[in-house]
Amino acid sequence: MAMTQLARDLRAQGRDIIGLSSGESDFDTPAHIGDAAAKAIADGKTRYTAVDGIPELKEAIVEKFQRENGLPYSTAEINVSPGGKPVIFNALAVTLNPSDEVIIPAPCWVSYPGMVSLLGAKPVIVPCGVDSGFRLTAEALEAAITPKTKWLMLNSPSNPTGSAYSREDLAALAVVLRRHPDILVLCDDIYEHLVYDGFQFTTLASVAPDLKGRVLTMNGVSKAYAMTGWRIGYAGGPDWLIKAMAKYMGQTTSNPASISQWAALEALSGSQDFIAKARKAYAARRKDVVKAINSIDGLSCREPEGAFYAFFDCREVLGGRLASDTDFTTALLEDSGVALVPGSAFHAPGFVRLSYAADPKLLKEACARLNTFCKSL
Ligand SMILES: Cc1ncc(COP(=O)(O)O)c(C=O)c1O
Repeated sequence: MAMTQLARDLRAQGRDIIGLSSGESDFDTPAHIGDAAAKAIADGKTRYTAVDGIPELKEAIVEKFQRENGLPYSTAEINVSPGGKPVIFNALAVTLNPSDEVIIPAPCWVSYPGMVSLLGAKPVIVPCGVDSGFRLTAEALEAAITPKTKWLMLNSPSNPTGSAYSREDLAALAVVLRRHPDILVLCDDIYEHLVYDGFQFTTLASVAPDLKGRVLTMNGVSKAYAMTGWRIGYAGGPDWLIKAMAKYMGQTTSNPASISQWAALEALSGSQDFIAKARKAYAARRKDVVKAINSIDGLSCREPEGAFYAFFDCREVLGGRLASDTDFTTALLEDSGVALVPGSAFHAPGFVRLSYAADPKLLKEACARLNTFCKSL
């Protein structure tokens, strides 16, 4: 968000800036979803709703989990919040005590450690290198667990790496988790629909149904339906946790916007054509961008299974005036007008994240500028 703001500021000064730092789709929200929102307004559905979601939306989420993930939840096991972010924060807020530990495989989304620290608990960052595809292995998980471990955070496909966990990867983690029955697991599946080359998305509660009672399967409409501004996230989980989250919302945000909930209902239960269209577009951009980055001397990029990020290694070009990935992205923005995010923000120094949720012409130009910039170092 800070890089995106800096890019905005430079643009306001008249600079030609290509912003590839933000994590949102460049597509508009599909029209039928907007129409459902307009209808909700026209029908007067503009009042407070049940704190953690209208029953109609909860039903649609139950159906979604069954249809797409083979997960049987009841409406009492569903939470709807004002965005995916509050789902995660609220779940942590109602369960974490000071000194509890949360295992966070890194590179990780910036907000996980921030939320845990904000709640007075301890983020336990577990570095997962490119050799393991930036994925947490069973051995690394076992080594990170202590008697204070309360949660494991899993994000697949991942922001920032785009790496996703296969059925086998998750089954291996499940073996470890069975040995530690008190650990809760948060599966952040918000990029579920953005997977490429036939990769089969799956989630822990589907792979290991015996663990479902301590898994919070979190998702949302932000990334799948280009609805970042609508602020609707949701989750399925054990009813004791869902009840506590609703209680917390009752004293903080209250319900997510009523109009957005009706729009989300249409997103989940109406036409799903947009998902295939967006996936096809991102798949082509991913191929082009990863190829372009790998053709630049000194940069290397793993081909990600999903999300809309290319996460590349820039360590070979560091040195001299650029001591770190942050220096790299700052100089790239100032010299060449391309806004990316330094890996340090994701606990992965030496790497850089590029979002390819952007116009292909801009992506081509950004890669050309990146090439010229690297040559100048
Ligand atoms: C991994 C991950 N989880 C959750 C979210 C939160 O999504 P929302 O915009 O619905 O709060 C994001 C958004 O960037 C994300 O990247």
